[in-house]
Amino acid sequence: MSAKQMHIDPFERNWIVFSVIMLVLFATAVAVAAFGMGIQVPSPETRVDPKTVASDPNSPWANPGVREVVAGKKYDVYILAKTWQYLPAEVKVPVGAKVTFYVTSMDVQHGFKLQDTNVNFQIVPGQVSKLTTTFTKPGSYNYICTEYCGAAHAAMYGVVIVEP
Ligand code: CUA
Repeated sequence: MSAKQMHIDPFERNWIVFSVIMLVLFATAVAVAAFGMGIQVPSPETRVDPKTVASDPNSPWANPGVREVVAGKKYDVYILAKTWQYLPAEVKVPVGAKVTFYVTSMDVQHGFKLQDTNVNFQIVPGQVSKLTTTFTKPGSYNYICTEYCGAAHAAMYGVVIVEP
């Protein structure tokens, strides 16, 4: 007595094989992006109160700017976004250092795109967005607002000056 074999229509089998191949391709693409190309998803770092974030003496955004963590190697940069400017509008870091940006907004939603890097995120009031990058070449890198935030949205930018 032979075991009954399940019948699979050839069309159905081909589509199952095709779907599995696509899943493997997608998983590979995600793995290459994450581990090979260093693409990071900006996860919410922490929450702040947008009403007090600029005035609370314990808030780093009350005195935004560059903090040296390890001289020449590691820096934290706190940037506060408001209509229609970034505070500070100019940041200086040395070339080759690991620079982490912590950005939040005190009013409406803004964007933060850092030229010639893969740093690009939304700035939501009450949330802190964080990403890390290393500048390998000296020069000026603009950060621009990428989310429409009102009349002077297009004029909202700042610059990271990477010093040799
Ligand atoms: Cu800020 Cu657009």
